[in-house]
Amino acid sequence: MVSPEDNKFVLLNEATSHHELFHVAALFGRESLVAHSGEQHKLSRRYLSKFFDHTAVSRYLDGVNRTAVRHFTNHWQGEEKVVALDMTDLYSFSAICRLLCLKEGPLMNEYLMKCCILEEGIQCLPINLPGFQYYKALKARKWILEMLGRLMEQRRREIVEDHVSEAAKVDVLTSLLTATDEKGNLLSDEFIKDNLLLFSLGGSGATSRVLAMTIYYIAKNPHVYTDFGRKRGAGKDEDTLTMEDIYAMKYTSNVLKETLRLQPPNPGDFRRTVTDLDYKGYFIPKGWLLMWSNQDTHFNPKYFKDPLKFDPSR
Ligand code: HEM
Repeated sequence: MVSPEDNKFVLLNEATSHHELFHVAALFGRESLVAHSGEQHKLSRRYLSKFFDHTAVSRYLDGVNRTAVRHFTNHWQGEEKVVALDMTDLYSFSAICRLLCLKEGPLMNEYLMKCCILEEGIQCLPINLPGFQYYKALKARKWILEMLGRLMEQRRREIVEDHVSEAAKVDVLTSLLTATDEKGNLLSDEFIKDNLLLFSLGGSGATSRVLAMTIYYIAKNPHVYTDFGRKRGAGKDEDTLTMEDIYAMKYTSNVLKETLRLQPPNPGDFRRTVTDLDYKGYFIPKGWLLMWSNQDTHFNPKYFKDPLKFDPSR
């Protein structure tokens, strides 16, 4: 599947599911969004997407911006040399943790380490014996679930005693703990933990790679630097950021989109059909794998003139 139309058909089709192999599903958990398909996926997605819509993001923005300012002050300023990908990994993980429930500190660093071990488990042979990477990844998952369980207990106590800090009142953990399904029941602990873990890993990896590649393209195209990150309006406080600022930063948005076009962190993947499908006269049986690929569109001169050129003005 290589055209924009084909990719939409695969990615927006509830009759296709993530093809996760059993060992990957075991690492993310059976209640994580990527382990669900069909109606169940639609429902889970509905619960979770409201924590990332415009209203939710505008509530988190200040905290995430403070995380960015602190990160640059602590890890970039005054340094002679920084390794961009290491730094964007650390920043993206700090930002996503801040948005979910955790501040920077020793616990977050340990969480980052366990997430790295878990991620390595996705790429390896699923041999669950001591000494093997998959065994270590499952142990890391156990540590993560216990840690998230303790954070949830603590936050529940704070909610009951009305002691939740201003920042924690708007984070994803408080939102998930107080949200209800369509029958008015609270979301299960297993659902909350599996999806906090999925967001921590899914949200930080792709963001980090895009940020690192943006730094690369800005370094290669110094003229881009002049306007990159500039907010509209004179006299703006550089330490604050609002949704209006973000919408006004059109050039910054173009630079990020152009980086995503040339270096998509997920250039393609497979989805499995959960029912028989008909597409453009082809019959696709249930259980088949469909491959989507955004790179075939991004590098096609039919859609992007001179496709290999980095040009944020397109
Ligand atoms: C530039 C940054 C990002 C890129 C390029 C990106 C890319 C993608 C792509 C291509 C998929 C589809 C994979 C598929 O359906 O097979 C996906 C799914 C997903 N992403 Fe991201 N992502 C980014 C940031 C994030 C962030 C910040 C979060 C979390 C806060 C996140 C969480 C997820 C989740 C949970 C899914 C699964 C969605 C579902 O099953 O319906 N991603 N991402």
